[in-house]
Amino acid sequence: MTWTVIAGDDAAGVADALQPLLVDLIDLHLVGKQAHWTVVGERFQPAHERLDVLIDEWRLWSDSVAERIVILGALPRGRAQDVVADGDAAPFPVEWLPDGDAIALIADRVEAVARRARAQQSVVEGLDVISDGLLQTIIEGLEEQLWMLRAHLR
Ligand SMILES: [Fe+2]
Repeated sequence: MTWTVIAGDDAAGVADALQPLLVDLIDLHLVGKQAHWTVVGERFQPAHERLDVLIDEWRLWSDSVAERIVILGALPRGRAQDVVADGDAAPFPVEWLPDGDAIALIADRVEAVARRARAQQSVVEGLDVISDGLLQTIIEGLEEQLWMLRAHLR
């Protein structure tokens, strides 16, 4: 099934390019919760609360990416095993994280996802203006988060 008006091969290619971003965003909101729970330190409260704001954004974006994949006629893969199989981020530490370390770890992860999303955008642009716009919105948001993480809380 497909609900897009762009050509089938193009739609499949765009959906394939979006799939890594889907697992990256799911991974971000999972490790974001891990950091939300294990952060400690003088800046616990702002770090703990800020992480939940970011998690909500990652969840929203993952839903938008998954639904775009559906509209393109492909099946999104957003299960825990898909995040393990398709994600390429290192395991997030299970330990008490000083607030600065927690924020730095999350910032590094956000940067990695933004870099991969930019690489995927080169595949999408020219094939599907809607998915390209979605990627632009997400990359813009990730880079704004990166600014806030690296400037505001450190
Ligand atoms: Fe909480």
